[in-house]
Amino acid sequence: MARGTAESRIISWQGNAVGLLDQTLLPREEKEILCDTLESLWEAIKSLRVRGAPAIGVAAAYGVVLAGELSRAEDPETFAEEVRKGCDYLATSRPTAVNLFWALDRMRAALEGSRGKPVSVQREALLAQARAIEAENNAVCEQLSAHGAKLLAEEARVITHCNAGGLACGNYYGTALGVILKAAESGKRVRVYVDETRPLLQGSRLTAYELLRAGVEATLICDNMAGHVMRTQGVDAVIFGADRIAANGDTANKIGSYSLAVLAKAHGAPLYVAAPISTIDFSLESGAQIPIEERAPAEVTGWQGHPSAPEGVAVYNPAFDVTPAEYITAIICEKGVCYPPFRESLGRLR
Ligand code: MRU
Repeated sequence: MARGTAESRIISWQGNAVGLLDQTLLPREEKEILCDTLESLWEAIKSLRVRGAPAIGVAAAYGVVLAGELSRAEDPETFAEEVRKGCDYLATSRPTAVNLFWALDRMRAALEGSRGKPVSVQREALLAQARAIEAENNAVCEQLSAHGAKLLAEEARVITHCNAGGLACGNYYGTALGVILKAAESGKRVRVYVDETRPLLQGSRLTAYELLRAGVEATLICDNMAGHVMRTQGVDAVIFGADRIAANGDTANKIGSYSLAVLAKAHGAPLYVAAPISTIDFSLESGAQIPIEERAPAEVTGWQGHPSAPEGVAVYNPAFDVTPAEYITAIICEKGVCYPPFRESLGRLR
């Protein structure tokens, strides 16, 4: 996302509503929407108007602030109960990105910390916590981007998948894309192959858009071209983000990430996963326990209302897959670069 006013509009608190740049309309239209009910914010998360693990967390945090604003309760306990219900409701929007649950837990803790205090004080505590989550997330993305940039050579051809840029995080750098942006800022020549990322095209619509705006060399490919590109053009690294990382390093990310990881291994290219520590779910032993979101068949059978498959065909539409840790060269986070065995290196981040 271009620096300046644009990224400040990806997610914003508007006093009585959560402002979102509607990512379903990009790249053809930059339109801000206002979610002034929890239902409209839930719908915005579900339908990917705001998407990407860290961005979902920040949006949900402001959603809890909104729940507080909407409550008419004057009694502190009733107010807190209504806000807790708002947290529970927002938690049902999407299952895979753990940042959603991480942010909601922090908001619940802020509520608990102001327990019994007047409603106005509880509202202030919620807003302060949401602002803190946002500010930390912005700092963390820039830090991990700087760590990751050092892993790229002076001249590097990389493949990335989905969108793990500023749009996915509510800031400028994002995670995997931040690694690329920071490397380019430091004078390295980075050429990026952008997987279009079927079925919702986060790669072509969002990543290509962000890279072009940042002036980074980007070439769009269909997902099924990655193997051919690696074999014929040569690729120095694969970099993608994460929605949830288990304690052993198994990583859930956008569907197609696993295939890319297998290809990277077959071609001897390192695979870097870039994600904040808030994306690591230490409660899960392995990726087998990560809930994988399944989405509507219509996302596969057509595009924006135009059918591309016969009516009635059976569809399987998992939104994420899990890349086993053995395919991952390193996991880049705000504290530095973690190498295998990940159970130990990630464990030290707790
Ligand atoms: O379904 P999406 O668009 O929310 O999926 C997003 C991804 O898979 C991203 O790669 C991931 O959330 C990392 S974002 C920094």
